[in-house]
Amino acid sequence: MTYQHLNSNVDLKQIKFRYNMAKWLTTASMLTVILLALYSIFYPGSQSNHKLHLTTDHDLTHSITNEDFAPKQNSNSAKRNSTCQFSTNNMMISNDSLLQALSYVSDQDFNNYCDSWDSEYGFSDDLHLNNQDCGNWQDAFSTLQQQRLQELEQLKTKIAENESLLNSDDVPAFVSYVCQEDPMHRGSRSCGGLADRMSGMISTFFYALMTNRGFFMNWQEGDPTSLESVFEKPTINWSFDPEDMKQLYKSDSLGFQSVNTLNFNWEKIRAAMFPDGPIQDFNELWTSKYVEVKSNRGYIIRTFEHSTRYTDTLNEMGLTKTNSFRCILDYLLRPKTGARRFINAYKQLFQMDSVLSIGLQIRTDDQAMAHPEDDTNNFETWNYFISCANDLRDAKRQPHHKRVVYFLLTDSNKLRQEFVAMNNNQTLRDRYIKDDQTSMVVTGLPIEHIEAKTVKTKFDANITDSDSDHERLLAGVNSAVIDNWLLSYTDYRLISRQGFGKMAAFHANDPRSTISLPRVDSKEHVVDCGNPNSFTTFDTLSTWWSLG
Ligand SMILES: *[C@@H]1O[C@H](CO)[C@@H](O)[C@H](O)[C@H]1NC(C)=O
Ligand SMILES: *[C@@H]1O[C@H](CO)[C@@H](O)[C@H](O)[C@H]1NC(C)=O
Ligand SMILES: *[C@@H]1O[C@H](CO)[C@@H](O)[C@H](O)[C@H]1NC(C)=O
Ligand SMILES: *[C@@H]1O[C@H](CO)[C@@H](O)[C@H](O)[C@H]1NC(C)=O
Ligand SMILES: *[C@@H]1O[C@H](CO)[C@@H](O)[C@H](O)[C@H]1NC(C)=O
Ligand SMILES: *[C@@H]1O[C@H](CO)[C@@H](O)[C@H](O)[C@H]1NC(C)=O
Repeated sequence: MTYQHLNSNVDLKQIKFRYNMAKWLTTASMLTVILLALYSIFYPGSQSNHKLHLTTDHDLTHSITNEDFAPKQNSNSAKRNSTCQFSTNNMMISNDSLLQALSYVSDQDFNNYCDSWDSEYGFSDDLHLNNQDCGNWQDAFSTLQQQRLQELEQLKTKIAENESLLNSDDVPAFVSYVCQEDPMHRGSRSCGGLADRMSGMISTFFYALMTNRGFFMNWQEGDPTSLESVFEKPTINWSFDPEDMKQLYKSDSLGFQSVNTLNFNWEKIRAAMFPDGPIQDFNELWTSKYVEVKSNRGYIIRTFEHSTRYTDTLNEMGLTKTNSFRCILDYLLRPKTGARRFINAYKQLFQMDSVLSIGLQIRTDDQAMAHPEDDTNNFETWNYFISCANDLRDAKRQPHHKRVVYFLLTDSNKLRQEFVAMNNNQTLRDRYIKDDQTSMVVTGLPIEHIEAKTVKTKFDANITDSDSDHERLLAGVNSAVIDNWLLSYTDYRLISRQGFGKMAAFHANDPRSTISLPRVDSKEHVVDCGNPNSFTTFDTLSTWWSLG
């Protein structure tokens, strides 16, 4: 663990607790603002609570109307719809930087935005996924899943009726992704944070798709929360009880197998997935009728690169190296309504015609989260992200882009504050942004889950089972999901070379829209981000860390 090398007279447990708690709650004041705001997002039914909170916090009720931020340009086009008087309150968002940016977009974009908004429910929860280029496998798989589930029911009936003559055709084949805390190997062998889990879930589904198996997935309750409490199922029902399923296939000798590829590196994944080389048949890899997979590694891009057996199949399905991850993710998982409304409020800004949006994901180090009071991060140190964004902006900006939006995700509260200050502080603007038509936007969500690895379990954080703890954990996971989805919806994104940003890159529509920047202490700092060759390809991303 991270702190094992500390001075032995420091109370290790105390520090670890503090460290973990700091990741969930940056400061007490943020807690009061954010939690209640999040509560109102994720439990929109409880209006009284939401009003009570929002009217006691003057920051959040500060209303920004069109008069406050009159458009600075394009005076001769359509008039703005004055019925949309957005405020952080009626938008149910927790930071006003979005509203500031909104005041600069074209009138037409503003009016379209206005039309997606409802004064009672906030923003539309329709994500308008552009799934047109996702191929043709979805209906076939949904039918297969239905069939497998029926077969499973029939199997259970037969067993209950004590039919001894089961033949193997009666036993449907399944593969599942499970995330379970391994009490013997806490930390190193757990299923990790959001990015780790996404890697494992998407790749395991890919395996099911290639082998005609039914597919299930599950996050252990309390680690930190169930999958069902964070995501809706837009297509197939992937819910199941891992223990029941295991017992069923185990006890009746139907065939159960557990596969664990947690933390495998590039070589080990090749050995695990392609022992026969490019002609590998995935059916022959794990032959039991029910295969339970624990994994935080991807091998989809690897399959496109390496496999000769699946080239035609994938081609016929309409899956490609660059659409697979995104299409499977959107097929399997959809953030819950409250999260979607929040996501949409930003997504629609990022994707406006009159806006060029660039996401910046700056992962500093654990210190900023563990000891917020010692957070010394600033843009003097991290300026290379802004310089890169500036170069990219200058290279990509078109005449129809009335506004440029920089959207920051970071684990440093200090950095986020300095970033937002650039909206109004001309000195800072001149020093870093070097442009007056660029807006700095943040979500204001808790920052402790930016790095997905830190989605902590209740075991690690020693959290009890009280409702408020659970809600806090849930809010944390939801904010990680919101951040990750939003980072994928910007036109371009600059990411730190770790799993979280990579998932957003894989989820993005355009495979050439991500630039990964090295660590702050790296020598290869200077990336020419205006150069089209600076984009990081999926091939490259798939060789790093959680692979791909
Ligand atoms: C202004 O926006 C409201 C709310 O979306 C909508 O009902 C109304 O029709 C719009 N008015 C015009 C003139 O577009
Ligand atoms: C099922 O069948 C076996 C042998 O055919 C018998 O020993 C067993 O008692 C039966 N169980 C039930 C629940 O009927
Ligand atoms: C999905 O599957 C779970 C587990 O089998 C079941 O409890 C649930 O009712 C199913 N949901 C739907 C909508 O069919
Ligand atoms: C928005 O976020 C910035 C940086 O965290 C903060 O300084 C500012 O007060 C926030 N505004 C609101 C309305 O929460
Ligand atoms: C703007 O930022 C600079 C540098 O951090 C700071 O010294 C100055 O006081 C700020 N100005 C205002 C008006 O806040
Ligand atoms: C969690 O708390 C319990 C009881 O308060 C204690 O026995 C246990 O050692 C703690 N675990 C950790 C990892 O701090």
